[in-house]
Amino acid sequence: MLAKVISCAVVGLEGAIVEVEVDISPGLPSFTIVGLPDTAVQEARERVRAAIRNSGCSFPTKRIVVNLAPADLKKAGPAYDLPIALGILLSSEQVYADVSQTLILGELSLDGNLRHTNGVLPMVALAHEEGYSTVIVPEADAAEASLIEGAKIIPFNSLAQLVSYLREEIPEPEYQPGEVDEAAPPASTATDLAHIKGQEHVKRALEVAAAGGHNAVMMGPPGSGKTLLARTLPSILPPMTNDEAIEVTKIYSVSGLLPADTAIIRQRPFRAPHYTISNAGLVGGGHWPKPGEISLSHRGVLFLDELPEFGHSLLETLRQPLEDKVITISRAQGSVSFPANFMLVGAMNPCPCGYYGDPFRQCTCPSSVVSRYQRRISGPFIDRVDIFVEVPHIDYEKLADDRLGEESGKVRARVIAARSLQRERFHGTGLTSNAEMTPAEVRDFCQVEESAQSLLKAAMKQLYLSARAFHRILKLARTIADLENAGIIKAHHLAEAIQYRPRSQL
Ligand SMILES: Nc1ncnc2c1ncn2[C@@H]1O[C@H](COP(=O)(O)OP(=O)(O)OP(=O)(O)O)[C@@H](O)[C@H]1O
Ligand SMILES: [Mg+2]
Repeated sequence: MLAKVISCAVVGLEGAIVEVEVDISPGLPSFTIVGLPDTAVQEARERVRAAIRNSGCSFPTKRIVVNLAPADLKKAGPAYDLPIALGILLSSEQVYADVSQTLILGELSLDGNLRHTNGVLPMVALAHEEGYSTVIVPEADAAEASLIEGAKIIPFNSLAQLVSYLREEIPEPEYQPGEVDEAAPPASTATDLAHIKGQEHVKRALEVAAAGGHNAVMMGPPGSGKTLLARTLPSILPPMTNDEAIEVTKIYSVSGLLPADTAIIRQRPFRAPHYTISNAGLVGGGHWPKPGEISLSHRGVLFLDELPEFGHSLLETLRQPLEDKVITISRAQGSVSFPANFMLVGAMNPCPCGYYGDPFRQCTCPSSVVSRYQRRISGPFIDRVDIFVEVPHIDYEKLADDRLGEESGKVRARVIAARSLQRERFHGTGLTSNAEMTPAEVRDFCQVEESAQSLLKAAMKQLYLSARAFHRILKLARTIADLENAGIIKAHHLAEAIQYRPRSQL
């Protein structure tokens, strides 16, 4: 007899319906899965066989063929265990049920228990869009699945429980939402700005960067506090909106990085990959494309410490996503896109020895080495950076000062206020921060005070700014004005923004 169960695949970040057809016919016992399964799906045979036997049912000793349709869509991962097992039970008439309107997903363990499965969020979103009335998920993933409003979720902890339910021996298990923490995310464990001595202008630059989602690069001698400063960023970033949180959770869910006990990610991501990372690791890739670090830092921060060490070609691959906020990976089977709207923060020394341009210590690098080092970061890359700030050597008096600086909490409050102005401004446009403005929005929202126009003109000429740099200055000035709750951009806002352009060495 033939049985059909509906399940789901994930392509990129989107779900795609997969029909699991099971046919059992007389013949020599065999168990075949066709329809472009990967190794994890092939291995489902062993898990399903053991799970069925350990759930009080019998595994048919006949010829079993499982077809995953459509056949041209690659099926990866263990989420098909449960639909295949149920298909076999239906086909062998051990269970009778109409599951044509139910989407079923879940990985089985050998004893028949259901395990945490990756990619549940995009799959449930698809089920809801396609009008499936019910979604059956492992109990561990019920909280994640219930983020999709309006979808009916039935959580099960084992195949045996599902069988009993379909045989109407037990009532329908209900998902009991736990305490949903809608409030602000828990205080970040990042270093507090208050503990960093001096470097006030760098702290200010980070505040502006966080307020408008701007890219920033810090340059300075070894031990001046660049890494330390960058690591304080999570403590001043604004919380994510619900939609942003769901976007980020989807990415982590398909990457298998969402912990089983976490339904939704509320903290903005902060990713700091080492410079030995591969191209695919950074931008995403692999035979069956997976999100890279730039997508894992979507809506958060991608921190590249020791920027020049990443190498010229790796940094160049960031140019397109920095502009488009999305990365498209093409393969022979088709292309997938992952969102990559991140805030880039870089830290670097000015030269290999680290003291080029330092007023207190002589640089020992030959000038050819310095220029080769700095050439690893191309002009177009620097052109995409809004804020460029030098982190100088800090002197004893400042370091030995016992007084604490301004706390991250206060800075964060200002950042949140500036972001809420931006949310109002961009209502209905799909943009979330000043850094994302296109030339059209720059024209609409970045009006400069009459008397400040001449400053802008002089800067354009003297600093020989590109058109992109010109727009970047205006966007940055918009953020600086937002931090002061000023409607129109004034001369001192522009002056601060211009000051963040790279000069001298780079
Ligand atoms: N402004 C500061 N206030 C307090 N401590 C500081 C400050 N700057 C540096 N330090 C101390 O110096 C250590 C090294 O700082 P950090 O790692 O941030 O330097 P860096 O600029 O990243 O250096 P490198 O260029 O070698 O990577 C910190 O762990 C901290 O103990
Ligand atoms: Mg460092």
